[in-house]
Amino acid sequence: MSTSDDLVGGNVDPWLSVSEPDPPGHEPDLTHSVQIRNVKKAFGSFHVLTGLNLDFADNAITTVLGPSGTGKSVLLKHIVGLLEPDHGEVVVFGQDIWSVSERERQEIRKRFGVLFQDGALFGSMNIYDNVAFPLRKHTNKSETEIRKIVMERLEEVGLTRAVNKAPGEVSGGMKKRAGFARALVLNPSVVMFDEPDSGLDPVRTSLLNDLILKLHAEHGGTYILVTHDIRTARKVSDYVGVVWKGKLVHYGETEEAFNSELPFVRQFLSGDSVGPLGMD
Ligand SMILES: Nc1ncnc2c1ncn2[C@@H]1O[C@H](COP(=O)(O)OP(=O)(O)O)[C@@H](O)[C@H]1O
Ligand SMILES: [Mg+2]
Repeated sequence: MSTSDDLVGGNVDPWLSVSEPDPPGHEPDLTHSVQIRNVKKAFGSFHVLTGLNLDFADNAITTVLGPSGTGKSVLLKHIVGLLEPDHGEVVVFGQDIWSVSERERQEIRKRFGVLFQDGALFGSMNIYDNVAFPLRKHTNKSETEIRKIVMERLEEVGLTRAVNKAPGEVSGGMKKRAGFARALVLNPSVVMFDEPDSGLDPVRTSLLNDLILKLHAEHGGTYILVTHDIRTARKVSDYVGVVWKGKLVHYGETEEAFNSELPFVRQFLSGDSVGPLGMD
């Protein structure tokens, strides 16, 4: 980080120093592994996405914020190829995922790690087997190699003592951490989180957010997080996109979003009951 001392000390051109360097592991580059281009999606007559555009910055954490029911989960399902847009393109690693075969889509999907809202663990498998699952399914690694990777991942999320527990025997926070370990097990270049904070108390939310930051700093990758929790967005994001009525109404660096003059963005980010956002 540059400090004000850098600016006054010696030969540093102050104009070159105004933007602080990103901390290690947080060096967004100008390529975009995930691009949403004018995506529209309706269920029957209900229009959820109404022309959404968003290029996610690589190697950065981008949060998509929006009220409940705005289509955040629907957006993630488009990115992983579980939903097909009615209109527009989902371009992943430079390819429109709906112009390729189902088999190619599945190959693309292997490069994603996804943490769904409830961790989406298999109830019949213990934590260890849940985390090992993608390795057993998608690689030819031996059980010895798998054990090494799984234990490393479980260590990172602080779950080595819960390996033999069933998902039903551990807390909500532990389930999310196990889901996180599983999402990272194939070294994905894109990691997506659907409301990682849902159902957690503020302390556990904060701990999970710390974990997201720590693992991103260590492994890098393009992280896409959707949430309606403003504190989570503020704490973990490099960039914030705000979705309202099926469109992106704001996109920028985190502080910029929190300083936005747009009435909806202001109201949503300040949690104010007065403004364009009502109960409907
Ligand atoms: N498969 C589906 N069929 C019909 N309606 C759906 C489907 N998936 C989502 N919806 C509707 O789309 C809207 C947006 O849902 P969602 O993306 O889950 O919102 P959120 O922003 O809270 O994640 C909701 O009203 C939801 O009921
Ligand atoms: Mg959702």
